[in-house]
Amino acid sequence: MNRGLFITFEGPDGSGKTTQIKMLAQHCAERGFDVVLTREPGGTPISEKIRNIILDPGNIEMAGTTEALLYAASRAQHVSQLIIPSIEQGRIVLCDRFVDSSIAYQGFARGLGDGVRVINEFATLGIRPDLTFFFDVDPETAHARNVASGKSDRLELEAIEFHKKVYEGYKQAAEAEPGRFRVIDASEPAEAVFRAVKAAFDKYVAEADKN
Ligand code: TYD
Repeated sequence: MNRGLFITFEGPDGSGKTTQIKMLAQHCAERGFDVVLTREPGGTPISEKIRNIILDPGNIEMAGTTEALLYAASRAQHVSQLIIPSIEQGRIVLCDRFVDSSIAYQGFARGLGDGVRVINEFATLGIRPDLTFFFDVDPETAHARNVASGKSDRLELEAIEFHKKVYEGYKQAAEAEPGRFRVIDASEPAEAVFRAVKAAFDKYVAEADKN
């Protein structure tokens, strides 16, 4: 395979996707691919500064619209500075969260609707992931994992009702684009989850090679 690939990892907080992205990065490296592992919000120095503003638990007065625009601003820098150049160099970019997170969290759970899609079209210069893994775990299980791990940034402190809506937003996004999404049962132990991720990745690459 000699063209770049853009693969995103999506799911609720506590779905275990960050463990999985690291495992896939290692698998890519073992297969000899040039891999870039990155995350949102973040991935470049400017984007990480914006991340600190968004996730600061002190920023309780932040409007939903501000939040959505800051995620999009962080993403715009990430796309321009890292994602597009890496794909153009033929690398595989693995990104922990991307536009689908904004659609699920800001568009769906915060109720900001279609404007979120519009600002993200602008921010991303229209680029879309080739493949998106959705780590499917019910909101109660995910919430319990978060409480157990003691994570407490501004978004994670939201009530369970918010996280149920996030989950619903993801389910609808995955159903709307079955060609791009791979829905992975994330309630299993990490090794079993990774077997499913690896199989889907290897299949995608084999098919891309044929074309
Ligand atoms: P992070 O600590 O990276 O969480 P996780 O490990 O679960 O990915 O924090 C990112 C938080 O920001 C997470 O709660 C999801 C949220 N988020 C949005 O609401 N919209 C977005 O566009 C993105 C990228 C993240």
